[in-house]
Amino acid sequence: MTVGLVEPQARVDVSKMPRHVAIIMDGNGRWAAERGLPRAEGHRAGVEALRRTLRSVGDLRIPYLTIYSFSSENWSRPESEVSELMALLRRFIRNDLAEIHSNNVRIRIIGSRNGLDPQILSLLREAEELTQDNDGQTLVVAFNYGARNEIITAIQGLAARVASGQVKPADIDERLVSDALDTAGIPEPDLLIRTGGEQRLSNFLLWQCAYTEFVFLPLHWPDFDRAALIGAICEYQARERRFGSLAARSNE
Ligand code: IPE
Ligand code: IPE
Ligand code: MG
Repeated sequence: MTVGLVEPQARVDVSKMPRHVAIIMDGNGRWAAERGLPRAEGHRAGVEALRRTLRSVGDLRIPYLTIYSFSSENWSRPESEVSELMALLRRFIRNDLAEIHSNNVRIRIIGSRNGLDPQILSLLREAEELTQDNDGQTLVVAFNYGARNEIITAIQGLAARVASGQVKPADIDERLVSDALDTAGIPEPDLLIRTGGEQRLSNFLLWQCAYTEFVFLPLHWPDFDRAALIGAICEYQARERRFGSLAARSNE
């Protein structure tokens, strides 16, 4: 079963849609530099690309979208760029939260809340609380997120439960670890898209991407659009996921 959406040649199979798409929105700075603009302009254009993506993911009825908006390592950028990114996040929540809520989308934020500016913290809380009963799609925002830190925090939680006798070391299994991560209850990504041309994870969802299909796109995030999303989904649909087993039609 196929459905033509934008370009006649870009056809997605609606029976094989990814349940969860994760995106590393990279390349804002280079997009701006190529146009002789300050990096901040690239981040602003990146917010527009995010808005387009939310609409496309909504139209395609993809149940979970995770976006990497700010990594725990991004604090090492110049202070002016960090404040610009924080201002954009605040503006995005203020301007777009009502529409996201009216689309029945639930927002979940993953990443560390330690040491965050109180204004940002309360906006994040507002976004989660306002949308917590929405049962349509889920938008997972990775903010101040680093997968190693997420795993360390999970290990600390499990170690505390072992120390108090609630859990035996031998009882720690994949389920317990998954449930101790920020992404507890969220299915693992089927498809991870990274724009900007780099082919690395940059500390994103290390545990959760064990069997995720990766699509790396050469275009910068501000240029990402519905056609690029559909192209990535088509590539995902052409892959064979084996999960360590044999090909579906293998006779050997
Ligand atoms: C992604 O674009 C946005 C964030 C990391 C917040 P970059 O700012 O990393 O853009 P490049 O990779 O320098 O082009
Ligand atoms: C990853 O991009 C983080 C986000 C997109 C938020 P980076 O630009 O920070 O990654 P590196 O530094 O190229 O690995
Ligand atoms: Mg980058």
